[in-house]
Amino acid sequence: MPGASLSRWTMTYFAAALLCLIGAEVLMVAGFGYPATAIEAPETLLLVHLTTIGWLSLLMCGALLQFVPVLVARPLQWPLLSPIALLLILVGLGALLCGFANMAEIITVPTEVLPLGGVVLAVGFGTVIVSLGRTMWMARPLTLPAKFVVAGLASLIGTVTLGETFALTLAGLLGGEEALSLLTHGVPLHALLGLGGWMTLTAMGASYRLFAMFMLAPDIDRFSTRLVLFAGVFMLVVVAAATPFAMAATMGLSVMLLIALLAGLCALALYGRDVVTLYRQRKRRKIELNAYAALGAFGALVIAPILLVGLLLSGQLSTGVGALTYLFVFGWLSGLALSKLHKIIAFMTWLESFAPLLGKRPTPRVQDLVDEPHAAPWFGAYYAAVGFGALTMLVDLPIAFRLFVGVQLFATLAITVHFYRTRLLLNLSAESRASIGTQHLFFPQSIARIRP
Ligand code: HEM
Repeated sequence: MPGASLSRWTMTYFAAALLCLIGAEVLMVAGFGYPATAIEAPETLLLVHLTTIGWLSLLMCGALLQFVPVLVARPLQWPLLSPIALLLILVGLGALLCGFANMAEIITVPTEVLPLGGVVLAVGFGTVIVSLGRTMWMARPLTLPAKFVVAGLASLIGTVTLGETFALTLAGLLGGEEALSLLTHGVPLHALLGLGGWMTLTAMGASYRLFAMFMLAPDIDRFSTRLVLFAGVFMLVVVAAATPFAMAATMGLSVMLLIALLAGLCALALYGRDVVTLYRQRKRRKIELNAYAALGAFGALVIAPILLVGLLLSGQLSTGVGALTYLFVFGWLSGLALSKLHKIIAFMTWLESFAPLLGKRPTPRVQDLVDEPHAAPWFGAYYAAVGFGALTMLVDLPIAFRLFVGVQLFATLAITVHFYRTRLLLNLSAESRASIGTQHLFFPQSIARIRP
């Protein structure tokens, strides 16, 4: 990876993120949050933020700390900020979840804990943005995938700003008609900036480079990819510009959301076309599990907008939005994340363990670190469980939903065991392992060595 460096804390971000995913799935199996309680209930908000901040945002931050240097071929700036940001995000998330648990009367803490959590989260995300921002600033002009990341980070700033405004209003620290109206009408803007901008646009940008790296697909600056970025950014600008309409609760809000929806659908359609082209033009004909398993995520990305349009046309968006968000979050975003982690963890572990030995002694291939035949069925089980989970949510069968989330949880645990085995080189022979000395599961080597 020319000019890039190994991000020492990315594995720690990944480990914390996976724990949050498993925690969220355990809560859903236990019948916590939607569909057992209302979608706007504090229990659901707790579950939503454990998933969107604890799992998806932490994972994305960890991945960007490793991949932005790859995207711009420059070492990460201020790498010492990475562990500080991780700590701030975890503490902020803890406080935010306590704030929601207090609203649900599960625990009793001062109401100010909710917005306080939001502030600490904002500083944590800000620290990541500063480090990535400086790295990209020094590498101008930016490559196209890096521009997607810039748009994603800008959306994160918008998501956190809106979220903190909600938290301040809920805690009674921010009053007035505008703030209340924003809380009542602004949640879709917050969710679209978070799931559409920060999560999806960033994942799209990273995926263009990951396809080139892992499938040897042509890494060229396509006009269609520029259109994806343009439509995506246009959607986000319209969403952000809709904020004053949400504060004033005027008719304009639904018109703005409709325009944003159309722009978003264009971006998704063009992206889908690009992905098909990349698969077709790849030089590595034998598809590896990370690319194969990602097909499930793309399937969810195709079904979600069709479901959205169906719900809109049948006037059932308010009852179906839970199932739609579930499919988008656990099918598309989490499916893509788990698929790519299968390769990224092997790739980074290989770099840490074997790259220094290249040319000095025989080294295994990256693919020797994984066990694809035994891991593949679990990705199938994961996607089937998410598909049936979304369906049972849509037709309001909460018990069946919990059963399918149980299967999803089991599949997630099995996939995590495969990550664990890859990380500790357990798929290699004992001899090759013995001569290497294993990396620490998730702490950087220098920290791991400190321990007695
Ligand atoms: C500092 C960070 C954040 C804070 C303080 C925050 C705060 C909030 C609050 C207070 C609500 C509830 C509004 C209401 O009463 O209906 C909410 C809803 C929501 N937030 Fe966040 N949020 C943050 C970050 C995020 C991120 C990063 C995402 C996504 C990537 C996200 C996704 C959502 C979603 C989907 C909802 C709607 C949930 C529902 O209605 O069930 N939030 N957020």
